[in-house]
Amino acid sequence: MNLTLKIWRQEDAQSKGKIVTYKIDDVSPDMSFLDMIDMLNEQLNNKGEDPVAFDHDCREGICGSCSLQINGEPHGPDTGVTTCQLHMRMFKDGDTIFIEPFRAKAFPVIKDLIVDRSAFDRIQHAGGFISINTSGNTVDANAIPVNKHNADMAFDAATCIGCGACVAACKNASAMLFVSAKVSQFALLPQGRIEATDRVLNMVRQMDDEGFGNCTNTGACEIECPKGISLENIARMNREYLSASLKG
Ligand code: SF4
Ligand code: FES
Repeated sequence: MNLTLKIWRQEDAQSKGKIVTYKIDDVSPDMSFLDMIDMLNEQLNNKGEDPVAFDHDCREGICGSCSLQINGEPHGPDTGVTTCQLHMRMFKDGDTIFIEPFRAKAFPVIKDLIVDRSAFDRIQHAGGFISINTSGNTVDANAIPVNKHNADMAFDAATCIGCGACVAACKNASAMLFVSAKVSQFALLPQGRIEATDRVLNMVRQMDDEGFGNCTNTGACEIECPKGISLENIARMNREYLSASLKG
């Protein structure tokens, strides 16, 4: 395939960015999207030009770092996949592809396609943990019965990889789907109930402090989430928040 790429180039956080056009030929449909950018970067390197900076690590849908806005969609046109799992067979010969960083006030651009998502880390630090003692006197896992349905829902919530596609998809740049997944994975299990009140209050406060927008229930986050995190988690977090506020 021969393609035209329109890529956001931005020197650093202070510079003004712009879309730059590149032509790339002989792209295999079997390549991943990131392989295709690697190929472009090799050509730019050979010409002595600055390669396109983009975030990536695992390249198998686990780490959540490969966050790109492709033709206006977080992680591109396929469903249930991250950018590293997106294949070039989703495009056709002659296509023009726009590649931009995720856009949100709370995710400032560092360079080109890389954004700073440390706001998510700070939300996690505010409450995304449990303080169960694991230093040699742990209770046997089977000693506390856990409802199977709740265990499955907690596991589903825990599959959130923190990629930020939910924020990029939302017209308000809301982080509610991410935060609700992190709250839910603990709220549904007995081990997570100990700090449940503080957790939801602290994580929501940090989310607001970071400058994410409010949720207006459009559901775009659920559609673009590569891990299928359900809107039910937002409803659960709202219930947790209300009950924690009444206790406080
Ligand atoms: S909820 Fe989905 S889209 Fe949002 S950070 Fe988690 S995995 Fe990514
Ligand atoms: S590089 Fe890790 S999820 Fe894509």
